Amino acid sequence: MKSSVQFEIIKDSLLQQQYAIQALREWNMEKQHSFHISTYGCQMNEHDSEKIAGILLQMGFVETHTQSQADVILFNTCAIRENAEMRVYGNVGHVKHYKEKNKDVIIGICGCMMQQPHVIETLKKSYPYVELIFGTHNFHQLPGYLYDIIFKNKKVIEVLKDSDYIIEDLPVSRREKIKSYINIMEGCNNYCTYCIVPFTRGRERSRAYTDIVEEVKKLVEDGVMEITLLGQNVNSYHGGCSFAELLTKLNDIENLHRIRFMTSHPKDLNDDVIDAMANLDKVCESLHLPVHSGSNRVLKKMNRSYTREKYLDTVEKIKKKIPNIALTTDIIIGFPGETMQDVEDTVDLIKKVDYDSAFTFIYSARQGTPAAKFEDDATEEEKHRRFEYMLEELNKGVILKNKQRLGNIYEVLVETYDEDTGICEGKSREFFRIKFKGNMDLVGKLVNVKITNPKYFSLEGEII
Ligand code: 5AD
Ligand code: SF4
Repeated sequence: MKSSVQFEIIKDSLLQQQYAIQALREWNMEKQHSFHISTYGCQMNEHDSEKIAGILLQMGFVETHTQSQADVILFNTCAIRENAEMRVYGNVGHVKHYKEKNKDVIIGICGCMMQQPHVIETLKKSYPYVELIFGTHNFHQLPGYLYDIIFKNKKVIEVLKDSDYIIEDLPVSRREKIKSYINIMEGCNNYCTYCIVPFTRGRERSRAYTDIVEEVKKLVEDGVMEITLLGQNVNSYHGGCSFAELLTKLNDIENLHRIRFMTSHPKDLNDDVIDAMANLDKVCESLHLPVHSGSNRVLKKMNRSYTREKYLDTVEKIKKKIPNIALTTDIIIGFPGETMQDVEDTVDLIKKVDYDSAFTFIYSARQGTPAAKFEDDATEEEKHRRFEYMLEELNKGVILKNKQRLGNIYEVLVETYDEDTGICEGKSREFFRIKFKGNMDLVGKLVNVKITNPKYFSLEGEII
């Protein structure tokens, strides 16, 4: 019963959107208007911005890369750490004068930050010139919002708390021709105690595998060679088949060359997925497996549901079955109550795993998360000191591993060519960034490159 009522609501809303799309298309035919989107945060946000751009293009807007020239200025925001939020507030402050110069300019903010009520209050109070505010669950309603602002002179603030569904078939303006992101699920149910994502992205829900396979087939017909499956916890995918089965189905698609995915949660990365990675030729030898801490005490307080021993066991299994796997991770230093021994445990785990690279963060308290209320006795200076120590130890291993790649041969999918320098750049299956002398014709091709000059964090080589 609930789902059929919901279906009616979605259908009504889609009809209203169609009406708004048509009206705005005509409006743009009289005089074409432009938009600019600034995107903050993760791949999920980047992909949402591709969808928002797709919706705007469908309505006859044109994209400009100069913010000052745009008629619609949008910010797609990230809430994961405080400094990301501060950057957004600063940059929204900067565009105020565009609105003062031209009152028809529309300034809008959307995405994860908007899911937090205190942010909406701040925007209402201190940024009254922002006319459009929407969250992570309703960007498909953008046509209707713009219609209300442009034709009815309304201000729109609409943030939905959660969503049970994922809207299919939105237009997408893909930023890249040969690589593509695909959402396979949305939301997260894990409630790691430091993390705002379950509150900003809602409950976990998976797309039907049939929709995913269809989308990938179309992309491949359009020339896409590499896909990255996106989800907060892809290993718990359940859209009619398991994640391992989804990988198998995608591996069967002809002319698709590479499959990547992120992010994996160590507690859900099971043997089936490891076997699929080992056996399926298109699944790349690269795995992002966030550990966050090497201390069991901290992992427990983070609600990560695994121990360092379990994590190390999983890593060992992966290395055994996929010997040339490149492993990356996320690490948080400065979690409330962390001691120097906890940091030593993390450094010890880093050395044992021997990561290829890592994203490292200082803990940032997020309002509404459990950890924000935990006792935290270390000073910011102390946290920075611990962070620098961890980073130095991490980098020793990362730089050494990179040096040892001298003479190795990697398959590179060429992404760019710089005319001024004559240098091509692309990624290996392991997700190593590799530069080499080449030409324009190589863009979009797979070539073999021998490493002749391993830098600290990147690789240079020669095509062979
Ligand atoms: N403080 C610092 N880092 C965080 N992350 C998530 N929440 C926080 C926080 N409150 C990190 C995690 C996650 C990455 C995307 O951001 O490592 O994997
Ligand atoms: Fe945040 Fe944990 Fe979910 Fe990742 S798994 S999005 S860290 S709550």
